[in-house]
Amino acid sequence: MTALDLINCAKKAAENAYSPYSHFKVGAALLCKDGTLYTGCNIENASFGVTCCAERVALFKAVSEKNTGFCEIAIVGGKDGDYTHPCTPCGICRQALSEFCTPDLKVHLCDGENTKTLTLAELLPHSFSL
Ligand code: THU
Repeated sequence: MTALDLINCAKKAAENAYSPYSHFKVGAALLCKDGTLYTGCNIENASFGVTCCAERVALFKAVSEKNTGFCEIAIVGGKDGDYTHPCTPCGICRQALSEFCTPDLKVHLCDGENTKTLTLAELLPHSFSL
């Protein structure tokens, strides 16, 4: 699966975003080493702190099924589904990913017609772990 394929899966996942408050739709597609794909979208709540980001929805779906070998994640996000600009994961999601993924995890972002790929280490240097 190419980075663009994964981005397209993330775009599809973002269609299910529940974001009546921000109107910001986010989709994530997390590819496991065994080929399994987990997707997620952001799910907001009237009590804002209850909101869960797309990345953590995908990650927790995978972990809850005992799948923890990850190699790549694609993330798209934008107001009213405009994915023109890269949507980088928030700090909480970076930390959540760092619990289960190695620093070389590839993070594919949508950059207009192109994809921009970073590693988790680039996004979260000097990460906290016990
Ligand atoms: N959001 C995500 O889903 N992932 C991120 O990494 C950043 C933010 C969501 C949360 C909220 O529903 C909306 O984007 C606006 O913050």
